Amino acid sequence: MNVLQRRIVGDFEAVVGRHDDPAIYAGAPGDPGLVGPGSVSWEVHADIASVALAGTSAIVIEILHPSVMAGVEELSSYRRDPFRRARTTLGYVLATTFGTTEAASALIAKVRGIHGRINGTRPDGVPYRALDPELLAWVHTAIPWMIMRTFERCNRPLSPAERDRYLAEQAVIGRMGGAEGVPETMAELEDYVARMRGKLGVTEQTRQFFDFLLDSPFAPDLPKPAAGALALLDVHAGMSIAPGWVRRLTGFDTPDALRAVATEPLLRLKARGLRYAFGTPAYARMAHERMAGRPAPVSGRALTPVA
Ligand code: HEM
Repeated sequence: MNVLQRRIVGDFEAVVGRHDDPAIYAGAPGDPGLVGPGSVSWEVHADIASVALAGTSAIVIEILHPSVMAGVEELSSYRRDPFRRARTTLGYVLATTFGTTEAASALIAKVRGIHGRINGTRPDGVPYRALDPELLAWVHTAIPWMIMRTFERCNRPLSPAERDRYLAEQAVIGRMGGAEGVPETMAELEDYVARMRGKLGVTEQTRQFFDFLLDSPFAPDLPKPAAGALALLDVHAGMSIAPGWVRRLTGFDTPDALRAVATEPLLRLKARGLRYAFGTPAYARMAHERMAGRPAPVSGRALTPVA
């Protein structure tokens, strides 16, 4: 890895952690994990840029459900530790796709255990619990939906059959987490989202969450106005992945002129930078080596940069 690659990887991992734990990705030679090689998920999630850059739109879509918003606002540590949620969610997506069957299943069970303690009452008096299969389905769906859109935007278009396969592969993971009624095809996804739209909205808690997003813990060294402008651009770039109705509902509907000169180039630059720095990320390489029956590496560190 050259200096630039090391810098990009270092900055990225400082925010969202390293995802190369041999206890998750190596061992158990021949074990395909929950999804396995040859899947669309293995191709899409090996593109670390698509998984990472989907984060902003996925979290915003998740919290458009006021019950999810209330759970995150009241019981999540995101204000104390802003990057924790990004780290653990990214880890969850990668480990459930590339981890051994045992490691992926154990992580899903652990997160179900955490969700068992997440319940309360929304500011409008409606009770919620994170283990509600409808809420789990919404949060689950937001993640592969936005990853798929990011991949198609920053990598390559998927065929209709590939999109359906990807959703069906990810649905297995969603159901193991307790979700019910998870869409498994694009047609089901469209129906499902249309049905859910009536339950979504922007509440006072959502507005506070957006203020937090824009308050930029991401560039603490910059003067406040510059950090604020950077955060605004970054959030708009991330939100450009979301469908138009989400952008309009949330107020992140970037004017076309700004999109062409700022948010689109920023998104593409970030995607290319991450791909250049990581090459085949360690988690994907280790899973392929596991399938090939090669011995587990001592450390998951040896990244393969792209040419
Ligand atoms: C299938 C859907 C979901 C996935 C994949 C998911 C994923 C996760 C993960 C990976 C963690 C971190 C566990 C750890 O700290 O090690 C977590 C924690 C948490 N989840 Fe979920 N979650 C889902 C649904 C929900 C729902 C529906 C709610 C709210 C109603 C919710 C609220 C929380 C909260 C409040 C935490 C506590 C930790 C924190 O955010 O600081 N989650 N979830």
